[in-house]
Amino acid sequence: MTRPIDLRSDTVTQPTAAMREAMMAAPLGDDVFGTDPSVNALQEKIADLLGFEAALFVPTGTQSNLCAILAHCGRGDEYIVGQQAHCYRWEGGGAAVFGSVQPQPLEHADDGTLPLDRIEAAIKPDDAHFARTRLLALENTLGGRLLPFDYVQAASALAQRKGLQRHLDGARLFNAATAQAALHGHGDVRLEARRIAQCFDSVSVCFSKGLGAPVGSALLGTREFIARAHRIRKMAGGGMRQSGLLAAAAAHALDHHIDRLAEDHALAQRLAHGLAGIAGLEVEAPHTNIVFVDLGGAAQSRSAELLASLQAQGILATGLYRLRFVTHQDIDAAGVDRAVAAIRAFFDPQA
Ligand SMILES: Cc1ncc(COP(=O)(O)O)c(C=O)c1O
Repeated sequence: MTRPIDLRSDTVTQPTAAMREAMMAAPLGDDVFGTDPSVNALQEKIADLLGFEAALFVPTGTQSNLCAILAHCGRGDEYIVGQQAHCYRWEGGGAAVFGSVQPQPLEHADDGTLPLDRIEAAIKPDDAHFARTRLLALENTLGGRLLPFDYVQAASALAQRKGLQRHLDGARLFNAATAQAALHGHGDVRLEARRIAQCFDSVSVCFSKGLGAPVGSALLGTREFIARAHRIRKMAGGGMRQSGLLAAAAAHALDHHIDRLAEDHALAQRLAHGLAGIAGLEVEAPHTNIVFVDLGGAAQSRSAELLASLQAQGILATGLYRLRFVTHQDIDAAGVDRAVAAIRAFFDPQA
């Protein structure tokens, strides 16, 4: 059976043969006892890489963000966050449900940032009427967009000045770092990842997205913060046992899949370029591996029909008014060209 050209997300990647071998070879213990050598090695590796004292391996990015928010905030505290941020909009309200922590969502500016004056205005005075503002949570990349580094530094400095903790949802931190390294004219993705991460008190990174591991994320912070997060992970049912099998895949991804993210970004450019030539489509220039396309005018009502037509040809994407295409290690240039040709033929069957 031929595999579809699956552009729905970078979470759909299959582990490579080499990654499977690394998983099979991993020494295993029991991570709830803290004795899984592969989990411990991964936690040290990612903490070293990003310059933190400690790290915690967790099953998902959602659990990582939840552990972070609940380790920073108590009942009746609040976190400032973007309307479009995953840890506000897409995580079932977990911080409120499990931690009685209220979000204070803010509108993003067009470039995805949360304007500093809006952040400052949202910080509540110490007054019994208000929730206590404890945390600023940013996301980078946000919907595939790289936040400008000078903005990240300024937002971080503002939060620090105001006594807030700072959390980064860096599910795609290494995509952000790849784009930032390219902007700065060098190829040292790890350096840029570390520079971004060091603007925060805690960072969550996902191995299961562009890095191509089947499962897993890591939360990073001080030893004391990670000890608190470890307790919350347990309460959230995230204590895994022989999870070294999964940690080995994540470690393999850190060793072998960071430098190839630039290929995904080049494929996203190729896709955007191809789609930009189709009348009626508004294509947002991608910063990383995610391409958004707006269907304007008459085309808008045909999005469901378009997705169904693509699916019938073995090409998968998501979206309704805004289509989303995500490139990753299981997509190649031929797949991108097929997707472009199929979309072109849909809108212009005579072409
Ligand atoms: C930015 C961001 N943060 C967090 C998550 C949550 O990751 P998970 O699906 O592993 O819970 C996602 C998932 O797509 C994401 O895109």
